[in-house]
Amino acid sequence: MKLYCVGCGPGDPELLTVKAVNLIKSAEVIFAPTAREGKPSIALSVVDQYVDKSTKTVSLVFPMVKDRESLKDYWVRNAGEIADAVRSGKKVVYLTVGDPALYSTWIYIHRELKKSHPDIEVDVVPGVASVFAIANKAKISLAEGEETVAIVPACYDMDRVKRTAAACDTVIFLKDGRYFDNVIDMLGEAGFPDDAMIAIAQDVSAPEGEILEVTRLVDQRGRKGPTEKYFSIMVAKKNARQ
Ligand SMILES: C[S@@+](CC[C@H](N)C(=O)[O-])C[C@H]1O[C@@H](n2cnc3c(N)ncnc32)[C@H](O)[C@@H]1O
Repeated sequence: MKLYCVGCGPGDPELLTVKAVNLIKSAEVIFAPTAREGKPSIALSVVDQYVDKSTKTVSLVFPMVKDRESLKDYWVRNAGEIADAVRSGKKVVYLTVGDPALYSTWIYIHRELKKSHPDIEVDVVPGVASVFAIANKAKISLAEGEETVAIVPACYDMDRVKRTAAACDTVIFLKDGRYFDNVIDMLGEAGFPDDAMIAIAQDVSAPEGEILEVTRLVDQRGRKGPTEKYFSIMVAKKNARQ
């Protein structure tokens, strides 16, 4: 009666833990999130080469909308479907991109399981989070000594994002590269100097290729950023020393 949630890392199938690969190979049922019906699951595509032919794979829809009320029905239904599979005695794995503890659909599934299916035990396997994938690809540190780091979803309340940026040395922006140009405009007002370091990436470590740019804030200002997809990430460092 155990469910395994497995972090699949940022995209490169070699960036999975040994534990994750072993669980995926031995799974009888694998559930994976997708944003809409019929759209292939990114998490599933990352681990494809490890999935046995006899394993049943099921995509569960988690629409990309902000209204939590309308999402609750999906969380309830998806958690129920997973719980039924676990109760059938099969070895069940739930996949999530990056690490399960960071802006993941797993958080909602886990909460719903604890509330409505407390008989289901869970084991959670960490994955390489996108924040570390971009830092290592760009060969930068996120923090050293007494520096502080914030992780924020760029496309939400820009005033709140600005207050956070003003209080931290490094800010990592996730969720949708189309908002990064607005963030660049705001960083100066939040105390980031012209020579602050900016690393912008899209599809980090994806086998089909990635975009990665490391520049200074002054060079990025007024210029259209290179990312326009949801799978984009930006790191801004006040102190550019490397
Ligand atoms: C729902 S969050 C999932 C975060 C994930 N759990 C993690 O640990 O990285 C999705 C966001 O993560 C970021 N992301 C995840 N993987 C990425 C990748 N390979 N390249 C760029 N951004 C990525 C993007 O900002 C994307 O909008």
